[in-house]
Amino acid sequence: MKKTQYSILTGITPSGTGEVHIGNFFGVVKPFLEMADKAKKVYFFIADLHALTTVQNKKELQNNIENIILSYLSFGFDPKKVFFYRQSDIGLHAQLQTVLNNVTPLGLIKRCHAYKDKLQKGVSQDGVNMGLFNYPVLMAADILLYEPDFVPVGEDQKQHVEVTRDIAEYFNNTYGKTFKLPQAIIKKEGARLIGTDGKRKMSKSLGNYISVFEDEETIKKQIMSTFTDPDRIRPTDPGRVKDNPIFIYHDLINEDKNQVEALKQRYKQGKVGDVEVKEELLQAHLKKFGQYRKRYQELKNNPDKIKDILKQGTQKVKPQAEDKMRQVEEKIGLVNKYSF
Ligand code: ADP
Ligand code: TRP
Repeated sequence: MKKTQYSILTGITPSGTGEVHIGNFFGVVKPFLEMADKAKKVYFFIADLHALTTVQNKKELQNNIENIILSYLSFGFDPKKVFFYRQSDIGLHAQLQTVLNNVTPLGLIKRCHAYKDKLQKGVSQDGVNMGLFNYPVLMAADILLYEPDFVPVGEDQKQHVEVTRDIAEYFNNTYGKTFKLPQAIIKKEGARLIGTDGKRKMSKSLGNYISVFEDEETIKKQIMSTFTDPDRIRPTDPGRVKDNPIFIYHDLINEDKNQVEALKQRYKQGKVGDVEVKEELLQAHLKKFGQYRKRYQELKNNPDKIKDILKQGTQKVKPQAEDKMRQVEEKIGLVNKYSF
């Protein structure tokens, strides 16, 4: 396959708070944008039906969806190449899931970690809803409707793409070749950015993150509370740069490499305090993400534009999903002489 001939598809679940942090940016957004740049076709959708497994509050779901849409559109996709849509706007995802349920062995889904993790945490079977249990089958439908070559996802979703391949094979074996098997792409670099607590991976749920889009005051607080070198008591003490979160962030965010080098030297020699290093990081953050933050506000003030992008994305992908679903219905025998 020529390098620029591939298609990619990925989804993002509007769960949690829908807030995007710099771990998400360097771990998934940046590699995805680079890959999308070289691809022929890109499917990028909001997995709002998947979010129902955990978000069961109307306001919360609406807010998360809006935040995710605004955030990802602010990163500047080329709408001519990237089809951006909501899963729930294409009813066929759920319809194909219903069909795939019938070729999917129960044991395959019981082995999936979303379900297994819950049981291991002591949740009873009654504490797991069918949406969560059946999550991988909906994900298989999301993918197989569009037959992408590659599915870029985080490490945690690798198993789901493998299950998608299994389900596609079960279907193909039962009804004849219908689905192309997708391949997961797991990005290793930037895959686990450390959080501001200096201990665990940056994560929304742990509250140890630096956000991309929140207001400046909030971002300042997040940066100022970042863990640095615990052995350094006074700014005149020599400090440790290696594995120090604040310098890991500087290396990623600050485009003025000379300034970063100078700060590191002064830090090692005990010639600069934490506060100055953090203030410079805030400035670098505002510089690096300023254009996205500005676009976020512009888009937020222009809901018609968002609607238009989603409408265009939906109109582009729907015929393809309809085609595939028709093929499936023919294979399984739902299409017959009475079909109209
Ligand atoms: P969070 O853990 O903050 O709730 P999500 O689970 O919503 O983040 O993850 C969204 C995407 O960002 C996933 O593909 C995940 O692999 C990636 N991601 C999350 N946290 C990090 C991190 N600290 N470093 C790199 N990538 C991350
Ligand atoms: N489950 C994925 C996540 O939580 C989101 C998702 C849903 C997805 N459907 C998909 C990703 C299809 C890739 C392909 O991150």
